[in-house]
This record gives sequence, C-alpha cells and structure tokens, in this order.
Amino acid sequence: MQYRHLGKAGIQVSELSFGSWVTFHTQSGIESAATMMAAAYDAGVNFFDNAEGYAGGKSEEVMGAALKKLGWRRGSYLVSTKLYWGLHEGPNEQNTLNRKYLIEAIDGSLKRLDLDYVDLLYCHRADPTTPIEETVWAMHNIIERGKALYWGTSEWEAADIMSAIEIADRHHLHKPIVEQPVYNLFQRHRFGADYERLYQDYGYGSTTWSPLASGLLTGKYNNGIPDDSRGAVEGLGWLRKELTNEERLAKVVALEPIAKQMGASLAQFSLAWCLQNPHVSTVLTGASRVEQVHENMKAIEFVDKFTPDVRRDVERVFETT
Ligand SMILES: NC(=O)c1ccc[n+]([C@@H]2O[C@H](COP(=O)([O-])OP(=O)(O)OC[C@H]3O[C@@H](n4cnc5c(N)ncnc54)[C@H](OP(=O)(O)O)[C@@H]3O)[C@@H](O)[C@H]2O)c1
Repeated sequence: MQYRHLGKAGIQVSELSFGSWVTFHTQSGIESAATMMAAAYDAGVNFFDNAEGYAGGKSEEVMGAALKKLGWRRGSYLVSTKLYWGLHEGPNEQNTLNRKYLIEAIDGSLKRLDLDYVDLLYCHRADPTTPIEETVWAMHNIIERGKALYWGTSEWEAADIMSAIEIADRHHLHKPIVEQPVYNLFQRHRFGADYERLYQDYGYGSTTWSPLASGLLTGKYNNGIPDDSRGAVEGLGWLRKELTNEERLAKVVALEPIAKQMGASLAQFSLAWCLQNPHVSTVLTGASRVEQVHENMKAIEFVDKFTPDVRRDVERVFETT
C-alpha cells in the first residue's frame, strides 16, 4: 500500500481507504465490521470514513464499537465523519451547516464513535442558506476545540470551496483541505476543468467515493439484482434504477475483456482506474463482506498496468452511447 498526502496537507492517507455507507448496521454488525476493518488495516489502510447520517447515526456506533474491539493505537489510523443531513427534524437541524448545528452535532458523532476527536470532519453537502463565512468559523472553532484535526467539503461546487478557502485565509482560520467527491468510470465531473485549479493551485486533496458505482462496476448486476447485494437493500429504490440502467450495463460488459486481459477482476480494474488519477489522494472503498475487502485491496497491483493502449480501450467504451 502506498500513502499519499491529502493534497498539500502534511497528513498522509493510504491510497485505498474504507467507508461504512449502507453497510455498517444495515448489512454488517459489529463483528463483521471489525473483521472487514481489520482486513483493510492489515492490507495497509489507515483511513476509515463515516458520517452522522449513515444509518441514522448507527454506522458511527458500529465503527466506534469495532474500533474499541480492535484496540489499535490511535496514532495508527484516521477516522472521518460528515455533518449536514442531521438526525432530528426541525429548521436548524436538517440539511444545514449553521453554527449551532455543527457545534452540537460534532459532539453527538464523537459520542457515537467513542472517540475524543475525528481526524477529518466534512461538510457533507453545501448549504446555500447559511453564509459560507459562518460555516468556516464553526469548522475552525471545532478544530480549535480539539474535536477535529482537519476539515473538508463533500460535493461542493468549486467556487464555494475557493470562497471558503479565501475566507479562512483572510481571517487566519483553519482552511478546508480536502473534497470528498464521487469518482468512478461513470462519474468523473468533479475532476473537470472547474476543479483543476483546486487540486493544482490550492493543493486541495480528494477522498473519492463510490469507486465501483455501488457495485455496478463489479459486473454483479449484469444479470439482474442479486438478493444479497446493495441493489436489494430496502429503501434504496433510487439506486436500483442506476444499477439496472441498460446503457451502463452494456459498458460494464464491454469493460470485462479489458480487465480480464490485465488479469484483474472488474472490481480491481475499476478501483485501479481511479488510482491512476494523481489528484486522487485516496479511493474510499466499501464492502459488505470480508472477501470483497481482500479482493479490492489487491487493486493496487494493477495501477501500473494502465498503459496508454489500455486507457484508449477504456475510453472507447465510454465514447459509445
Ligand atoms: N461523501 C458522500 O456523499 C459519500 C457518498 C457515498 C459514499 N461515500 C463514502 O465512500 C465509501 C465507498 O462508497 P461505496 O460503498 O458506494 O463504494 P463502491 O465501491 O462503489 O460500492 C461498494 C459496494 O459494492 C459491493 N462490492 C464491493 N466490492 C465488491 C466486490 N469485490 N465484489 C462484489 N461486490 C462488491 C458491495 O455491496 P454489496 O455486496 O452489498 O452488493 C459494497 O458495499 C462509503 O462507504 C462512504 O464512506 C461518501
């Protein structure tokens, strides 16, 4: 496993990391979560991602209990969480980045994770109804209180991120250092021209999510939705539509021989494709069982196999609609 700086920040993250969306609590209890985290950690993963909103806070509880069980030295791993969606109804506690919510919500997350601080704290989405300056100050104050070490954004527009950086600069506050964007063979827009300046000029890091497009890029949906897959999880109807999209499935089928030629599974191939991008600090993987972790961690062996010819073959698949 190689380690990459989070942009120009001093902290380094393993190029593959491990997150808990959909899986922890809903598909995996504490035992299984701990087994998967241990498999990732043994492969060199040092970064574990979570969010207040995952399974209504239960995902943080499962990760906290798993960490307790695993008993790792705190300096040897990083944990993140994200705030925005909220756990309670009401005007100030949902879909917001207001100061009151952020300052109170971090305490709830730390309690559930049973940690004194998180290493990274993200604003899970942008909130157009709260001034960016208010959010920047609140995130700064959370860091100053020792409850988070760094902060970042997730799915923010480039202009808003630059605005946050500039506000922080002006007031000598802790700046956001990392974006958490979706990034996979199907979804690449957060690495387009708008964002180039963030990575290039501002040294912004990126912890990218859904590298397998929720499993679509493993080929497991080529013949329908398996009963034991994310596509069958209750409450994810919106995702099922994407997992059964005929156009996308045809592309997955077309990628198979390219991956096979490389000697990689489709999952390994798709993860390694993300890792080729030098602006990616870490690819956040997800798994519902430990065998997937073992398979996915081997993706690092294929990064160097993306020759110009292979890259051209891949792009041909995506040019055809
Ligand atoms: N910031 C955000 O807004 C945001 C949004 C989404 C995710 N994230 C973060 O990114 C992490 C990764 O996202 P993701 O879980 O969507 O990643 P993903 O890699 O696109 O999907 C992971 C899912 O694919 C299936 N899978 C993984 N490896 C497989 C393999 N080798 N063979 C067959 N199936 C396999 C598993 O689901 P099944 O076995 O159940 O089919 C697994 O849970 C999340 O845990 C979270 O930390 C962040």
